Amino acid sequence: MPLPYSDIVMEHFRNPRNVGRIDDPDAKSVEGSPACGDMVAVYLKVDPETHRIEDIKFESYGCASNIATGSIITELAKGRTLEEAKQISWQEATKELGGLPPIKTHCSVLAVDGLRAAIQNYEERHGLVTEREPTTVQVVEKRLKRVMNPVVGLDIVRTHLVHEITVTAGVVRVVVDLPSDHQFASNIREEIVEKIEPLWDVEQVEIEFTD
Ligand code: FES
Repeated sequence: MPLPYSDIVMEHFRNPRNVGRIDDPDAKSVEGSPACGDMVAVYLKVDPETHRIEDIKFESYGCASNIATGSIITELAKGRTLEEAKQISWQEATKELGGLPPIKTHCSVLAVDGLRAAIQNYEERHGLVTEREPTTVQVVEKRLKRVMNPVVGLDIVRTHLVHEITVTAGVVRVVVDLPSDHQFASNIREEIVEKIEPLWDVEQVEIEFTD
């Protein structure tokens, strides 16, 4: 039985706005959903003076609900300041879309998480973070829950690929339970560095593989 999607959802799914990537973005994020293993990437261009979102694009590897939500929230976010864009919620997106089946809530949450993570990435990269909690093993682990294990489509923490994390004087060391010549090793390395490096007190990220 087809899911009862509204006409607005179907329209945004068929003609999604702001799809694609931005070359040389000011910030970006890649978020995965633990519920379904799908992923979304969000790219931002931000005015450095006003902190208004000048351009925003997204790529979705998710379902129709995720694509429609990505489309609507990027429309809502464009032209807003980062602070204003942070207020965009999955509830607001769902309302704008004329409703989504409750079973699809996680899909709209994923799109909104992608937007929020991209904003956070901008703030971290541009020294705009005001609440500066020190980086601990727990903080690193939380971030690593956003790095996908492409083999199974779930994050690398839940799929037990993270063998060890240490944090010592600005150096974060992550040991990944994969051989270094694994086909996804360099991809995972890149994503880990991308997630950990922006943390305000991190000076170096070291990734090791268990060969
Ligand atoms: Fe994965 Fe919708 S089922 S994003």
